[in-house]
Amino acid sequence: MRVIVTGGAGFIASHIATAHLARGDEVLVVDNLSAGRRECVPAAAEFAEVDITDRGAMAKLWQQFRPQIVSHHAAQIDVRKSVEDPAYDAQVNILGSLNVMKNCIECGTKKLVFASTGGAIYGEPEQLPAAEDCPVRPMSLYGVAKYAVEQYLAAYGRLEGLNYTILRYANVYGPGQRTDGEAGVVAIFAGLMLSNRQPTIFGQGDKTRDYVYIEDVVRANLAAIEAGDGGTYNIGTGVQTSDQQVFDQVAKAAGYEGKPTYADERKGEIRHIALDSEKAERELGWRPQVQFPHGILQTVAYVREADAGLL
Ligand SMILES: NC(=O)c1ccc[n+]([C@@H]2O[C@H](COP(=O)([O-])OP(=O)(O)OC[C@H]3O[C@@H](n4cnc5c(N)ncnc54)[C@H](O)[C@@H]3O)[C@@H](O)[C@H]2O)c1
Repeated sequence: MRVIVTGGAGFIASHIATAHLARGDEVLVVDNLSAGRRECVPAAAEFAEVDITDRGAMAKLWQQFRPQIVSHHAAQIDVRKSVEDPAYDAQVNILGSLNVMKNCIECGTKKLVFASTGGAIYGEPEQLPAAEDCPVRPMSLYGVAKYAVEQYLAAYGRLEGLNYTILRYANVYGPGQRTDGEAGVVAIFAGLMLSNRQPTIFGQGDKTRDYVYIEDVVRANLAAIEAGDGGTYNIGTGVQTSDQQVFDQVAKAAGYEGKPTYADERKGEIRHIALDSEKAERELGWRPQVQFPHGILQTVAYVREADAGLL
């Protein structure tokens, strides 16, 4: 099949592009390299350095490549930036996504898979793990924009018959994540500890998140090609892992013996989240397979090699 992967120079979608190539698909990666890196795009994929908000360039790509599948991952992913500059966030995450949708409709794309968020959409749910029918109460404008796109998809499904699947990811981690990013605490801690610098925990270390490994996320994306039409699915483990536990696990894997520094909690951060992914199990046949300690070992090994210039 012909597959366009937006954001394919970034962490998650570069793995998805690789998985499509391994299936024998023809892949075109579209990315403006604002956060991604050209060297992360798999060598066998075609690459277009295009901004998803550029209407003319995007229409041309879709008309030339005529994708059957579109995996839409390009986004402004910095939650704090979305609060500081909501117009920019909306421009990329809402208007850019509208551009993707319109082109898919015009080209008769069979399936659009959209990377949404489970971590930033439910706010502080009363019950954890949170299922998809939990009230949507985002604490950031990034979450608002992701939810807006979900609503546009549903409307285009009704109006134009656009076929889509929405995947609401928990905190994704694994090899390939940037150690200098704004998000991705596992990679950030690993990068600091391996160079013997002290990581900072914001708060007391008791905030919890749901960490899902990149390989599991890739499998969810492949499952969504064949199933889950018009559906929304949490992609997480249901397990709450505290910041302190992340610190301890990464320290163990990295051989770091120092302690963290503790700083004030950052505004707008939720205290606890974990996702119930039973619906994905029922309808996509997807279940997370990688345990956190194993995923941490893999990630730390990757950061060690990348820092040593071996990758
Ligand atoms: N990492 C997570 O834990 C997580 C959790 C929930 C949802 N998501 C979603 O998954 C997707 C991928 O996230 P990631 O962690 O791989 O982030 P990433 O920053 O590594 O990848 C995003 C990619 O999009 C590209 N991009 C940004 N703006 C663009 C634009 N205007 N035009 C074209 N390309 C643009 C960047 O250059 C980058 O390569 C995003 O949509 C994100 O919101 C990620």
